[in-house]
Amino acid sequence: MPRSVVRRLDAVVNDFVLRCRFFREPMTKGRAQMFAMQHQLNTRQRNSVLKLKVATNCTDWDTRIRILKACSEEVIADHEHGGGRAHWQILEDLGVRIGLKRAQLQKATPLPSTQLCWAAWEGLMANKHWLEGIVANTCAERVNVPGYGTGLFKRRGWFGVERQRWGRLFELTNDEMKFFTLHEEADILHSNMGWQAVERFARELHMEDAVVAACERNLYVWEHYLNGIAAGGDALARMRR
Ligand SMILES: [Fe+2]
Ligand SMILES: [Fe+2]
Repeated sequence: MPRSVVRRLDAVVNDFVLRCRFFREPMTKGRAQMFAMQHQLNTRQRNSVLKLKVATNCTDWDTRIRILKACSEEVIADHEHGGGRAHWQILEDLGVRIGLKRAQLQKATPLPSTQLCWAAWEGLMANKHWLEGIVANTCAERVNVPGYGTGLFKRRGWFGVERQRWGRLFELTNDEMKFFTLHEEADILHSNMGWQAVERFARELHMEDAVVAACERNLYVWEHYLNGIAAGGDALARMRR
């Protein structure tokens, strides 16, 4: 029997986790601070612009509403996991806890690598079939679900790893790292939505190969985005020396 499409997507995600330098190299203060600045911008761009284009194209009503609900948790208010605050606001608080000024976060601009990724995602999300779009929406949240990679990553997911790394580096408690703990719950739901839609529709629409290719391409972009943050964070640390 051929491998199911979800199995194939999982293999693509697993490859990404194993190769991406940002996950494999040590976390540093500069990289963490650059992550906070870039990611609150990125979260807002993705959830107020890019993912909405996918929702617009989505012909399945329930899936469309689920996209909108997830986006609203990210950019407006998360009552389920975030105490009524948007994810980017929770990330801003975390940025302040690791030594950035709030104004620095609010005035942050996207790195060239981040801008390039937004343009690439635009191509992968705006004018694509919605099923490829939903893979684009959710494939990176998938790495917050345990099961990919090895060791702690496999047991706790990406943000479980970051919680440990940032906790040690900045002596933060789990409460102070709400941004990570909340995603360890929310992204299971957010990404399950994507994987379930693929499971339901890929065969019927004859799009199995297309969604696997979409997943690969989107994760190439995520890899560029995260490694760009690493390089930008290293530059930030050098500037301070
Ligand atoms: Fe989020
Ligand atoms: Fe999410």
